[in-house]
Amino acid sequence: MASFLDNLYWRFATKQFDPVRAVSEADLKSVLMAIRLAPTSLGLQPFHVYVVSDQSLKEKMRPVAFDQAQVTDAKYVLVFCADLDIEKKIEGYIKAAASGGASAAIQQGRRERFKQFLAGKNEAELLTWASKSTYIALGFGLAVCAELNLDSCPMEGFTPAKIAEVMDLPVHHKPLVFLAIGYRLHGPAYNKVRLSEDDLFTFV
Ligand SMILES: Cc1cc2nc3c(=O)[nH]c(=O)nc-3n(C[C@H](O)[C@H](O)[C@H](O)COP(=O)(O)O)c2cc1C
Repeated sequence: MASFLDNLYWRFATKQFDPVRAVSEADLKSVLMAIRLAPTSLGLQPFHVYVVSDQSLKEKMRPVAFDQAQVTDAKYVLVFCADLDIEKKIEGYIKAAASGGASAAIQQGRRERFKQFLAGKNEAELLTWASKSTYIALGFGLAVCAELNLDSCPMEGFTPAKIAEVMDLPVHHKPLVFLAIGYRLHGPAYNKVRLSEDDLFTFV
């Protein structure tokens, strides 16, 4: 069986997806579960993901995504948005923790700590904060795709404001990055390009 690292080597940012081959519901669920399980700042999961499979919507998205073929050919395009309705995230967290057994006092303490941490941040700062956790969730999604031998492409090549318009997103959902999922038509055109360990790591 291929190891996790073998699978990370196997994966590549797929450009040409097979528009016909379906992705199983079980595999899609696993990808979404990995995204849910990703660690996030304060545990608040400040993102929302749209799982787009509707072909007519994908066709409207492609022209505002630099006409990249992955948008229409991949079976699913996961649109990762920063979710700036943080009040709702806080209340969602408190509710989920309460159902996990957190006492009323613990809940109130957490609520106050969250609010303190976020107080005074403007929208740009909140967006930066939310984006960092969103990209970790993207990374978990990419990794589980590799484990499932499901092809994927992370994509920032789109105009966020246009995507928000085409998808009719609520104003607090800010599109950041896509994860296109499906099956490759061909292997990668190039060998993997990575910087050397010396370029990336310093042992001290
Ligand atoms: C944040 C991010 C945005 C990216 N945007 C695009 C994109 O819009 N279109 C695309 O074809 N590839 C995109 N890529 C893929 C990268 O070009 C690719 O991951 C990188 O060259 C390394 O190659 P590999 O993933 O095939 O190993 C993106 C990757 C990341 C992480």
